[in-house]
Amino acid sequence: DFMSEIMGISALEKQIKDKLNLTKVIIVPGDSDEQDWVKQEMGKACVGYLKKIVKPDFAIAVTGGTTMAAVADVMTPLDKESSYLFVPARGGIGEKVENQANTIVSEMARKTNGEYRLLYVPDPLSESTYQTIINEPSVNETLQQIKSANVVMHGIGDALKMAERRKTSESLLNELKASKAVSEAFGYYFDENGNIVHKVRTVGIQLEDLVNINHVITIAGGTSKGQAIASYFKQGKTDVLITDEAAAKQLLRES
Ligand code: BG6
Repeated sequence: DFMSEIMGISALEKQIKDKLNLTKVIIVPGDSDEQDWVKQEMGKACVGYLKKIVKPDFAIAVTGGTTMAAVADVMTPLDKESSYLFVPARGGIGEKVENQANTIVSEMARKTNGEYRLLYVPDPLSESTYQTIINEPSVNETLQQIKSANVVMHGIGDALKMAERRKTSESLLNELKASKAVSEAFGYYFDENGNIVHKVRTVGIQLEDLVNINHVITIAGGTSKGQAIASYFKQGKTDVLITDEAAAKQLLRES
């Protein structure tokens, strides 16, 4: 029944908190691999959490992906008085337009009467283009806003699925397989022990920047992501994990 379901979820939250050593975990019922609306439920949990933590003039950095797109779908004004700035966390990492951070931040800003900035950066970037592009005044200004974001919201992906979605070259795909990559976040690929096995060169938030950001919110769910979540948390710094019941149960089976 309803009460035992609630009790079950909060016990699960406690187990995940202990396992990943986190201060906050929010779990929604269901499996987002099976039902699309579960992603929207994670989205609602995220919006509810954001409402509690935002302060006037906060800048919020957001990655791409279908999970973040679901957060944008269910976004509502965060409060009556303030407006917030939404920025893409990293330069374009090869996603379809609807799943790109640029699209998602514009949607979030529209729904909250906030503002947004875009990053138009090719990916992957060569070293020389990288140096030129970060010195481009418009890019540089956005990069400063990204680096000083108060909140970061990001997804975690299954490494090989993400690599394929990004039309990664055959040679890199083989490299990722050989190095046993299992998870991906922010354009970094990790093995099951959380070691970085590859990094997509682009501008924006780097993994080491996360320690300076007060509110890092990770959103990822579905049985298929249990292993990826376990792997990412061996390396990544997060304040809150928002996930679903199926991913949480799978996570508890992972080492
Ligand atoms: C991407 C993020 O766009 O979304 C990745 O940049 C993340 O870091 C991915 O792995 C997750 O995608 P989805 O569609 O599973 O939410």
